[in-house]
Amino acid sequence: MTPPPLIRIEALTRRFETGGGFLKRPRTMMAVQDVSLSIARGEVVGVVGESGCGKSTLARLVLRLLEPTSGRVLLGDSELTALPPAALRAARKRMAMVFQDPYSSLDPRYSLAEVLAEPFVVQRRALPSGAVAAMLAAVGLPETLATSHPHQLSGGQRQRVGIARALALEPEFLVLDEPTASLDVSIQAQIIDLLADLRDRLGLTYLFISHDLGLVRYFCDRIVVMYLGAVVEVLPHADAAPRHPYTRALIDSGFAPDPARRRTIAPLTGEIPSPFALPPGCAFAGRCPRATDRCRTDRPALGGDAAHPVACFHPH
Ligand SMILES: Nc1ncnc2c1ncn2[C@@H]1O[C@H](COP(=O)(O)OP(=O)(O)OP(=O)(O)O)[C@@H](O)[C@H]1O
Ligand code: SF4
Ligand SMILES: [Mg+2]
Repeated sequence: MTPPPLIRIEALTRRFETGGGFLKRPRTMMAVQDVSLSIARGEVVGVVGESGCGKSTLARLVLRLLEPTSGRVLLGDSELTALPPAALRAARKRMAMVFQDPYSSLDPRYSLAEVLAEPFVVQRRALPSGAVAAMLAAVGLPETLATSHPHQLSGGQRQRVGIARALALEPEFLVLDEPTASLDVSIQAQIIDLLADLRDRLGLTYLFISHDLGLVRYFCDRIVVMYLGAVVEVLPHADAAPRHPYTRALIDSGFAPDPARRRTIAPLTGEIPSPFALPPGCAFAGRCPRATDRCRTDRPALGGDAAHPVACFHPH
């Protein structure tokens, strides 16, 4: 029997209302739309997609740093999206987030010892003796840095501190939201190696978010492809042949970590629809070389092969 998944995401949806005001109706946008996904213990699941497709919103929903409009998230048997505050605080020990930008996520006023002690303060727990040195060692930093402040560190060292802080309460599950996007390529590789090593040593489970498909294919067991808030394909492994025209375009373009190119995928023409006014049919129809009339009126659901689902009427 296969063990039950560690994380179950069920029909998760989040809408945002923006721009309401005097004589102006607020506009509603779908940031995350009906996303379902299970993550097994020990698995590394990647999420890729263009800027604004809802990756960070999904990350925050999964950890319940943001409330969903509808849908549920379960951690083991416990439904995170239904827990009252005290139980949620207890459940929070089991999961943590690493952010893209170690510059803004670490408070410059605090020493590393204080930064690393903070999760214990939040949980109203005593800091075990030797914990700071052990956390620094776990991410390959010397104990002598404990009295340093974040601005005295390099970008790579700062992200190691971000990872150490996420590990402070010995979580089982980490959400990594573009943890290497602000780092040089050589430093990026060191951080990925560290994350891989920590997963093996500590038996961690990751949801790894990136706009760099190459990196995700290198690091992840399964790959979720998002387009305008919805999952359009789940690749069962890094080398699986893409079936959705969007995934194929991402791969053909070598969808790369160049922020200036993030919104444009080389082989695609046509407009990305506004998330405030999604078309009735497939959201990708305006850019899709395989689109037919049906694609412009009906919305394809994620389906087909359960191990390799795709949301497309005419997949490759
Ligand atoms: N608090 C908010 N209020 C209104 N709209 C929001 C809010 N947070 C996110 N959005 C919108 O939701 C959509 C998804 O944003 P999100 O940050 O999840 O995308 P992303 O895939 O992480 O993008 P990036 O690759 O740039 O980090 C965007 O259109 C964004 O403008
Ligand atoms: S459903 Fe149609 S428009 Fe959408 S990706 Fe498939 S072929 Fe393209
Ligand atoms: Mg983001």
